[in-house]
Amino acid sequence: MESNRQATARAHPNIAFIKYWGNIDDDLRLPANPSLSMNLDGLHAETTVTWRDDLAADQLTLHGQVEGGAALERVSTHLERLRERLGLRNHADVVSTNNFPMGAGIASSAAAFAALTVAAVGAAGAAISERELTTLARLGSGSASRSVPGGFVAWRMSATHTDSYAESIAPPDHWDLVDVIAVVSQAHKAVGSTQGHRSAATSDLQAARVAGAEARLAQCQQAILSRDFAALADVVEHDSNLMHAIMMTSRPPLFYWLPPTLTIMAAVRAWRTEGLQVCYTLDAGPNVHCICVRSDAERVSERLRALSGVVDVRVAAPGAGAVIVRSS
Ligand code: PMV
Repeated sequence: MESNRQATARAHPNIAFIKYWGNIDDDLRLPANPSLSMNLDGLHAETTVTWRDDLAADQLTLHGQVEGGAALERVSTHLERLRERLGLRNHADVVSTNNFPMGAGIASSAAAFAALTVAAVGAAGAAISERELTTLARLGSGSASRSVPGGFVAWRMSATHTDSYAESIAPPDHWDLVDVIAVVSQAHKAVGSTQGHRSAATSDLQAARVAGAEARLAQCQQAILSRDFAALADVVEHDSNLMHAIMMTSRPPLFYWLPPTLTIMAAVRAWRTEGLQVCYTLDAGPNVHCICVRSDAERVSERLRALSGVVDVRVAAPGAGAVIVRSS
């Protein structure tokens, strides 16, 4: 490899319609259940990786600030696995920015590790299939596997690294859905998902949630393919409630909801009975992702802004997969 090869990749976060919560193998991030998500256009992580022959260790700059500690360690652990796969010994200079708040229920680690993986592989000039890229991204953050392919994406479960991969089930333009995100807090969450996955099995309810996941994924996939909003709303809200039931009944318990979170969830259910095509889903944070059809997005945004406790509203359409935006 030439020295100092560089690539910049961009990846969107994704919102899970069928949630990933708990692993059968924490080290390889092999999930306890399959999951399904939509990439979020307009929000992104942009990461530049330079493999350098003059560095004694990896280095990370996030939003212009040089990082050490846990953030650098997690990135460096991931780079170590990529080095192994790519047959490299160089260390990397990683520079990354996000255009959305980190750690508050908009999956920043998904976009971050998808962009990091694609940039690192691109900078090495290696030809690696999309399927394998999804498995490599998964090692950094499980949901990052779903930010590599475009549009609506399913992440298959398997007991082996190579077979737990993500693939697109429909392109971004398949269905004009919109995620209207009601931001109720921009604070960094106290308990991250890596720790949360480890505690999922301490909930008596996890086994039941996992047992039904394949069927819910099939229902969700069918609802997307046939653009059946009522069926989608039913399974998406149910699956989100199930995951939060696990969180609340884990030991120690995890409560991600804040008072405005519940207000919004109740409002969304009421709006749907009034005829708006909208449903809610929440990741590991208090922000509420209101999934709706494009024609109702404006009304949903206005109504959300009028609710007390909503500090911001962001609108995201289905997004593309991770791409290299520059390389040299
Ligand atoms: O990829 P992680 O470890 O950040 O886990 C993501 C977990 C949830 O966002 C809560 C659910 C999901 O499937 O994205």
